Amino acid sequence: MTTLTNSQQRIVSGMRPTGRLHLGHYHGVLRNWVELQNSHECFFFVADWHALTTHYDDPSVIEQNIWDMVVDWLACGISPGAARLFIQSRVPEHAELHLLLSMITPLGWLERMPTYKDQQEKLREKDLSTYGFLGYPLLQSADVLIYKAAGVPVGEDQVAHIEMTREVARRFNHLYGREPDFEARAEEAIAKMGKKNARLYRNHRKAYLEKGDQEALKVARALLESQQNISVGDRERLLGYLEGSGKMILPEPMALLTDAPKMPGLDGQKMSKSYGNTVALREDPAVIEKALRTMPTDPARVRLTDPGDPEKCPVWQFHLLYSDQSTRDWVREGCASAGIGCVQCKAPVIEAVLAELKPIRERAEEYESDPGLVKRIIAEGSEAARDIARETLDEVRRAMSLNY
Ligand code: TRP
Ligand code: SF4
Repeated sequence: MTTLTNSQQRIVSGMRPTGRLHLGHYHGVLRNWVELQNSHECFFFVADWHALTTHYDDPSVIEQNIWDMVVDWLACGISPGAARLFIQSRVPEHAELHLLLSMITPLGWLERMPTYKDQQEKLREKDLSTYGFLGYPLLQSADVLIYKAAGVPVGEDQVAHIEMTREVARRFNHLYGREPDFEARAEEAIAKMGKKNARLYRNHRKAYLEKGDQEALKVARALLESQQNISVGDRERLLGYLEGSGKMILPEPMALLTDAPKMPGLDGQKMSKSYGNTVALREDPAVIEKALRTMPTDPARVRLTDPGDPEKCPVWQFHLLYSDQSTRDWVREGCASAGIGCVQCKAPVIEAVLAELKPIRERAEEYESDPGLVKRIIAEGSEAARDIARETLDEVRRAMSLNY
């Protein structure tokens, strides 16, 4: 059971540095990040160590990919004023937590990850039977747990990793959340809240423990959240005490799936670099226009007079994403009756894509021309992330009796 505290409103997500991003990243991930940054405390980072698990034989490409990707994030509206942006390896605490978690993570959990076998099959040309690659999901767990994140926006393919992260956190809390004098310390912490709040806490705890009153549990958690004068450690002790268990050190995060529509590629398959069907965010408008103009349509429309079916046409997928109802009606009707030509049909899509990318390209140019600014943003974000990571790691060390 996860417990909610202020810090748990935190959102963490990472992306491997794959270089310049495309429309699929924008619609599938970045728009969601931009929205989240306005309502939550967000940490977005470049997972450069994760890139190393598959690119260990050619790490020299990683650096350029990092800066290209960060520029694209910024160009898409990720704001350093609203979110922390950083590079994983600039916060070495991730590595220490990964190591400590590796001590308690059963091999089977990693071996059974669907991504483990899938990726090995997919990237056959690489030797991925390495220790680092097996540990990929656990490094990801450390990335999330070190910030005590409440939510992790990820794609469907990453949900298994977040599930494992929850299991690792549970196991950690179970193993190390027990203090020999837990009950006495919890009682001491209650006393620190003052008479009135202490009584409220006790009553709600009792209602939950004795009658399973979920509402009481919720109210008690909110009460703890609002306490200014108790320490982080005491708060966690009391959160754990509420449920009768031990102290909760690493909260279990939730996967946040986006309901963003799948971005179609130029060929109708999902847009992905490996299919070569992408539109890069910073692509030259003339190149984009040509790519869209020449993209395939319903093969039944050989001649202008042949009627077509939008359902069989990749261009229709773009209309679904970019066009309003009246344009869509015009397409449906004109395609089926051969009243419009494909060139005509593509015009509004071309216009919409170019209009969408124009401000992005312009902002990217600004950041590109000022690499010092981008580096400062990352330096600041990394420092801020590190402050939190250090705190968690201190607690983890203490819980594991490693604070000598
Ligand atoms: N594995 C993720 C991906 O391929 C990237 C990633 C690394 C990540 N660490 C993370 C995502 C932590 C979310 C949280 O997309
Ligand atoms: Fe596709 Fe439009 Fe041509 Fe119909 S008219 S086949 S929807 S491009």
